[in-house]
Order: sequence, then structure tokens, then C-alpha cells
Amino acid sequence: MTEQRKATLRLGENTEPIEFPILSGSMGPDTIDIRTLYAKSGLFTYDPGFLSTASTKSNITFIDGDKGILLYRGYPIEQLATRCDFMEVCHLLLTGELPTDNQKQHFVNTIKSHTMLHEQLVRFYTGFRRDAHPMAVMVGVVGALSAFYHEAMDISDALHREQSAFRLIAKLPTIAAMAYKYNIGQPFIYPRNDLSYAANFLYMMFATPAEKYEPNPVIVRALDRILILHADHEQNASTSTVRLAGSSGANPFACISAGIACLWGPAHGGANEACLNMLEQIGDVSRINEYIKRAKDKTDGFRLMGFGHRVYKNFDPRAKLMRETCHEVLNEMGLHNNRLFKLALELERIALEDEYFVAKKLYPNVDFYSGIVQRALGIPTSMFTAIFAMARTVGWVAQWNEMIADPDQKIGRPRQLYTGTGHRDVPTDKINN
Ligand code: CMC
Repeated sequence: MTEQRKATLRLGENTEPIEFPILSGSMGPDTIDIRTLYAKSGLFTYDPGFLSTASTKSNITFIDGDKGILLYRGYPIEQLATRCDFMEVCHLLLTGELPTDNQKQHFVNTIKSHTMLHEQLVRFYTGFRRDAHPMAVMVGVVGALSAFYHEAMDISDALHREQSAFRLIAKLPTIAAMAYKYNIGQPFIYPRNDLSYAANFLYMMFATPAEKYEPNPVIVRALDRILILHADHEQNASTSTVRLAGSSGANPFACISAGIACLWGPAHGGANEACLNMLEQIGDVSRINEYIKRAKDKTDGFRLMGFGHRVYKNFDPRAKLMRETCHEVLNEMGLHNNRLFKLALELERIALEDEYFVAKKLYPNVDFYSGIVQRALGIPTSMFTAIFAMARTVGWVAQWNEMIADPDQKIGRPRQLYTGTGHRDVPTDKINN
């Protein structure tokens, strides 16, 4: 048996060293297990933003940010994006394995049996303002699912957890498309189970009772790729939110709703929408330098949306694949000369050569290209992050399920470095005033 490696901490010359086990995963950096630090030393660690903290162990997704590697259950994202469809990737993330043909058929049929919403829930939409952002509606409606499935919400029961996972994956496209339809004042379009996951979503978004709508296969393929590339991404902000919410024993619908709320922020999934809004704001190739200058100015809050990543410091492998799709789609739709897309590609070129962005390793991330692709596909900007949420639901659910089943799981309860006022007394003349 090999001896466990230990990290030794010395707090001062005349103090006893304190030892902590070093844990090794199957890949990636080793991790110092500091769970006993406070008990042994009375000290906390301080790591806002989790720059050096592994918040959990997980066997779902692996990222090597320096090498630009992303693996789902061991499979490289490049292979999954080019050889599999989204349903196969969902099966992989949930169960750990790609499905056989029979397993895929069964999985797809199961998902299809849950695509509709309870009619009471459909009525829930009318309580929102018509101009509500689709993400606001999604936070509400997904959270409200917990009011509909009391009979299958025992989180200690693996079958109940599985049932909730199927429901969430199946219903998210319906919920998102209905948020859009409500927003534009068109009637809701119910799911068509003869279509693929991506095609059905496009159908629910763009069909009307008045006209026949057949989803364009180029658009379906591009959307399927967007879904695969966004399906999971290790312990990012929204996934950590789902885990933290779930650590208290909250139900899965409430947890995923919390994840959607977190994803909406412009530093996270909201970046795709923010990126398109930024391109509109820049407006013309001649103004790119002005905005690059602003992005470098520390006194200006402006950032180039769709650039930079906490983990990827050389390139984002998802962005590389999305960039390919972006060019395919622009060619296919004859949009390479469109003002906005020309502007986006010129911004990409200038930023990639700019000293500031090169030195800080700020490359276009997946959201830069996914925003452009979605715009080219005719998807309204306000739906970009909703589509991200649809894709990420399987990742959130897989991570939530992994956490609940983990015997080491405890309620997430960080501590703090208190910097407020010390103890003080309320003046006695305030008593009974
Ligand atoms: N434009 C201009 N400067 C930037 C940008 C940017 N987009 N991103 C980072 N920087 C600078 C930042 O000012 C800082 O400079 P300094 O060291 O001089 O203070 C340095 O680069 C490091 O930035 P940071 O904010 O400390 O890095 P972070 O790891 O905390 O943040 C990020 C990562 C993605 C939130 C950030 O790069 C950003 O805000 N990007 C724009 C939003 C975006 O595209 N988000 C989508 C991320 S990918 C999809 C997803 O996973 O959600």
C-alpha cells in the first residue's frame, strides 16, 4: 500500500506542524483536504471566487484549462460534438455511458413522454407581463414545477430523482418556447414528439397554427451542436449554485430554478445575449478600436462580452467548435457579408492580435460564437440564454444527482472573514423608545 502524501502547514517557528492529506483524482491537480483545518488551527481559508478551491469531487466532467481539454465522462468534446447527438450526450452525462441503439431508443421515448406541461402550469404564464424576459419566466415556471410533482419528490429515492431528471430535460424546451410565444403574443405551440429534441424546440418557437413549419436541417444540426457544447461544464457558477441549493435537501425543480437564475448573469450564460447587444452598440467596424480601448480602461466598467474565461487560458475548445459551426452557418445562410457578422469577425481578429488581450489570455469564449450562430439562425437575442439553460439542465441534474448520492455530502455552509464593527451596546436611552 502506498503511503498517503501529506501537506504540512507551519503557523510559526515554535508551533507544531499540522498535516493534511493530499487527495489525487484520476486527472487534474492534486487537492489538499483541509476539512480539519479549523478544528486543528482555529483558522479558515479565504478564497472568494474559488480561485484555488475544489468544492467537491465529481466524475462527470473534466477540464484542463491550460491545454484546452474538455471531457464529458472521459470523452473529448470534439468527438461528442461531431459523432453524437444531444440525446446521446444527455444519456452519457446522466448514466456515465453512451447508449446502445436500444438504450437510446428507450431514453428518447422516455424523454418524449414528458414533453408536455400540465395545463394548470400553462395558465401560469398569463400571470407574467408580456414583456418579461424569457429567463425571468423560466426561473418562475421551472421553480413552479415543484408544485406539480409531489408524488415523486423524495430526493433519497433514486427512482424519484431519475423521474425528475427526465421531466426537467423534457420540459425545458417547452417552457422556454412558451416563454417566447407569450412574449410575442402568439399562441403556444405544443410539442411534436415525432421531431428530434432540437427540431421540436425550433418547431415550438417558430410554428404557428396558421402555417406549416418544417425545421431546416442545417438549423437543427447547429442547434444540436450548441446544446452538446453547453451541456455541462464542471463546477461553474450555476452548477455550484444548483449543488449549494441542493445541499440543503431542496427539491430538484427549485435547485434548477436557482441554477437558471445564476446562469442569467452577463459574466456567465448571459454573456451570449450581452455579446450581441454589445455588437449592436458598437454598430460599425470603424468603432471597434474605440470599444477595445474602453475594455482596457480600468476606470471604465465596459468589458468585451464573449471574451475571457476563468479556466481556459489558451483556448476554449467549445469556442473552437462553435467557431466552425459559425462559419458553416454564415456560409449556408449567405450571411458572411451581413453588417453585424462582419463586425463580429473583425472584432475577433483585432482582439486576438491586441497586446492587452493576448497578455491577459483573453480569447473569444463559446458565448461569443454561440451568440453569433443563434442570431444567424434567426433566434431572438432574448432567447440565447434560455437555450443555454435548456442545454445545461442535463448537466445540472447530473451534478445534483451525483451530490445527493455522495455519502460525503453535507450542507454547503461557507464561513467568512468578518470585517464589520466589533461588539457594541445599544445606548440604554433607546430602551422602550
Ligand atoms: N474584457 C476586458 N478585460 C477583461 C475581460 C473582458 N471580457 N475579461 C477579463 N478581463 C481582464 C480583467 O479586467 C482583469 O484585468 P486585471 O488583471 O488587470 O485586473 C483580468 O482580465 C482577469 O479578469 P478577471 O475578471 O479577474 O477574470 P475571471 O476569471 O474572474 O473572470 C470572466 C472570467 C469570464 C467572468 C471574465 O473574463 C468576463 O467577465 N468576461 C466577459 C463575460 C463573458 O464572456 N462570460 C462568459 C464566460 S464563458 C461561458 C460560461 O461558462 O458561462
